[in-house]
Amino acid sequence: MKNKQITFDYTNMLADAIGGEHGLSMAEVKEYEEPAGEYHRIMKADRETERIGFFNLPFHKQTLRRIKEYTDGNYNKFENFVVLGIGGSALGNIAIVSSLRHPYYNLLSGKERRGYPRVFVLDNIDPELIVNFLDIINPKKTLFNVISKSGSTAETAAQFLIFVDLLKKKLGKKFTRNIVITTDPEKGDLRAISEEYKIQSFDIPPNVGGRFSVLSSVGLLTAGFAGININLLLSGAADMLKRCNTPILFKNPAYLNAVLHYLMDMKLRKNISVMMSYSSQLFSWADWYRQLWAESLGKNTDLQGKPVSVGQTPVNALGVTDQHSQVQLYTEGPNDKVFTFLTVEKYRKDIKLPKFKGDYSSLDYLQGKRLSQLFDAEMRATEYALSQQQRPSCRVIFPNISEYTVGQFIMMYEIQTAFAGLLYNIDAFDQPGVEAGKRATYGLLGRDGYADEVKKILEKEKKRAVV
Ligand code: PA5
Repeated sequence: MKNKQITFDYTNMLADAIGGEHGLSMAEVKEYEEPAGEYHRIMKADRETERIGFFNLPFHKQTLRRIKEYTDGNYNKFENFVVLGIGGSALGNIAIVSSLRHPYYNLLSGKERRGYPRVFVLDNIDPELIVNFLDIINPKKTLFNVISKSGSTAETAAQFLIFVDLLKKKLGKKFTRNIVITTDPEKGDLRAISEEYKIQSFDIPPNVGGRFSVLSSVGLLTAGFAGININLLLSGAADMLKRCNTPILFKNPAYLNAVLHYLMDMKLRKNISVMMSYSSQLFSWADWYRQLWAESLGKNTDLQGKPVSVGQTPVNALGVTDQHSQVQLYTEGPNDKVFTFLTVEKYRKDIKLPKFKGDYSSLDYLQGKRLSQLFDAEMRATEYALSQQQRPSCRVIFPNISEYTVGQFIMMYEIQTAFAGLLYNIDAFDQPGVEAGKRATYGLLGRDGYADEVKKILEKEKKRAVV
């Protein structure tokens, strides 16, 4: 499968291509060859001691077996598979399905979906979204996968209450058949509920953080219920892990991309990282990346406890759509961004542009070309226009979109993020800022033990500037 490897092209990150003011010299990048060796040792130790768990997810054979058994035995019993979760318990699920299934998957007939259920991921609690959702599903024919590592996130807990109540009303005591819980193996209320009510459950390994969990049962169960080849997904991830198991910076796409982004941020003040997908189906991976990069690297304290203020702001963009929305700013606005293009060499479907009778210059040049040629030309044109304005960019090139290449992409970016954490000298695996918001929400809704939180908020809210 070597020829199906994703590749990383960093030509336009370099001063040779875009000039020294906004591009990096080779000498600057090479300075990181030695530290890369040291960071590689740390990453290896984290993997071997299992301090950090995402590296080894492709090899969790027992989990894989259980997921397969469960999906094989249940996929054709339900019309809908609905994920209740948020953040790391939802974004990868959305991306797996939207990249690896038909773009209009839920609109296909059951036969066209080969008997697999429609898949929905409810990662918000807008009451209109949730209440109106009830119009389009039959709860009796729906399996709800409640996913929460902590087992206590307010949004997921609220959704759980709504849908369990509904199921109880429709199914009585049998409601538990329509629920599957994915959570910590021991801790949290969801685990306790799964045990008390004997609800089918899967584990999120304690050493795997939410945003690094897509290759655990968090994402795999959704993949299985969408008929996606989990083995291939994991083998792509395992192959990327192998490829990145080298301290040699220029042979390691994840380390190299981390160093380039780090230098762009810290040396050239490009503190915005735009991931622009030239594939509608890969676009939700840019969304997943937003969380991974933002939550992992946006920190105010370094590993020694010293105050810092680091982290690039990740932004997602869609080619060609955003050429007509964002690219004016990207080419002529502040030169504070570094761009990553997600590109695809061979699309699963393509179409030749038909002939149209007459002599119309705006149509002539297109006729007989493939739509993918236009798409590709527009990507290269945008890249060129940016480089002409000294805007740095790189490409992550998918030979095609498949389980195998998507698996590689996931592992590359998870390794890259962990490595970037070492470069920034921060903890890439905690999220105190998210936890602070969670605590404040608990306080506002009167959860026991959060009264102090609420006092402070109410005090602040007295002083609002409103016209
Ligand atoms: O990456 C993270 O840890 C977070 O984004 C979580 O995934 C998110 O807050 C949801 O948490 P939980 O899975 O505990 O419900």
